[in-house]
Amino acid sequence: MADSRAPLFDQAELDAVRRPVAEATNLPGGLYVEPAVFALEQESIFAKSWICAGRVDDLSEAGAFMTTEIAGRSVLLVRGEDGAVRGFHNVCRHRGACLVQTDCGTARSFRCNYHGWTYGSDGGLLAAPLMDERPGFDKNDHGLAGVRTEVWGGFVFVNLDPGATELSDAMAGFPDLSRYDLENLRRGHEVSYDVQANWKVLCENYSECYHCALVHPQLNRVTDYRSGGNSFEGPGFNGGPMMLAEGFTTMSTTGERRHPVIEGVGDEETRVHYLHFYPSFLIALLPEYVLLHRVQPDGPGRSRVSCEWFYPESTLAQSDFDASEEIEFWDVTNRQDWGLCEMVQQGAASRLRPGPYHPLEYCVHAFDRWYVERVGKRLESLSR
Ligand code: FES
Ligand SMILES: [Fe+2]
Repeated sequence: MADSRAPLFDQAELDAVRRPVAEATNLPGGLYVEPAVFALEQESIFAKSWICAGRVDDLSEAGAFMTTEIAGRSVLLVRGEDGAVRGFHNVCRHRGACLVQTDCGTARSFRCNYHGWTYGSDGGLLAAPLMDERPGFDKNDHGLAGVRTEVWGGFVFVNLDPGATELSDAMAGFPDLSRYDLENLRRGHEVSYDVQANWKVLCENYSECYHCALVHPQLNRVTDYRSGGNSFEGPGFNGGPMMLAEGFTTMSTTGERRHPVIEGVGDEETRVHYLHFYPSFLIALLPEYVLLHRVQPDGPGRSRVSCEWFYPESTLAQSDFDASEEIEFWDVTNRQDWGLCEMVQQGAASRLRPGPYHPLEYCVHAFDRWYVERVGKRLESLSR
């Protein structure tokens, strides 16, 4: 008798994802619903990849900190007295309690609420009450455990894997975005959403506009779904541009640009560039603002998506700065997309996929192939 708990996908379905896009089929539905697959992804992907944790300018002064969760682990990021941003496992080295339980703030030191061990912003153990009663105890041996952090374009990336390649290697071939001056942009607005869908569903949905004419009338008006061209992929990313439609100068409810173009981009730019740095960093570059979506898995059928708008400081400083047209535009678009993603998640439970890709789903296929490459071998033990 078949084991009813066995995930319902097989190796042939994974192999079919790898074929050229015209012959390939989608990832099997079981990969979106199985807790064992989710656990495997957390360890094999999220605990081993460069994950964006936030903006370095959110850590603007010594002692500024933020916490984030990656692959189920809490991570503490702190700017030290020396100006360096460091990452640590947010875990006390005494009995392993979670050390900092707030999202962000500024602190001179971090005291564990259990027995009072106290750490400096460089992770060093400053105080450990009464531990001098234990022979040979040396505070120098019990600092916070570091995690690797690197900054790219003003974004702080964290990698839990001590043996991971450097971020610059992981981003090999990523398009040059220096004209957008990402490190000097500042956040103008942010919002987050809880979506009842697997993180891969969200990433796949981001990567195609085959659905746009039907589902996004507002978006399709300013960038026609067939205006995308020259999609591309690299070892750790995919992407491609879309053209602003005749008569429109940005993506917003009016389609009319309200802010100056980012210096270096040029007034003549009529494209919107979409890039997906795997696994979960989704960035859209418009002539006058940059939009980031970050997807944080929260279980096989649940994700948290943070959405942030970035502008040059000079734009934010304008007395009449008003981002409401692009904020509303993307909120409408996001919610339309979350509805689609939740439909796919519901469908995945039936495990009747896979189906074929349309050529407009080039980037979905690129992501799915990367995924199979990354975890396919480990998935074998779970396949039927
Ligand atoms: S667990 Fe932190 S001081 Fe004991
Ligand atoms: Fe969409």
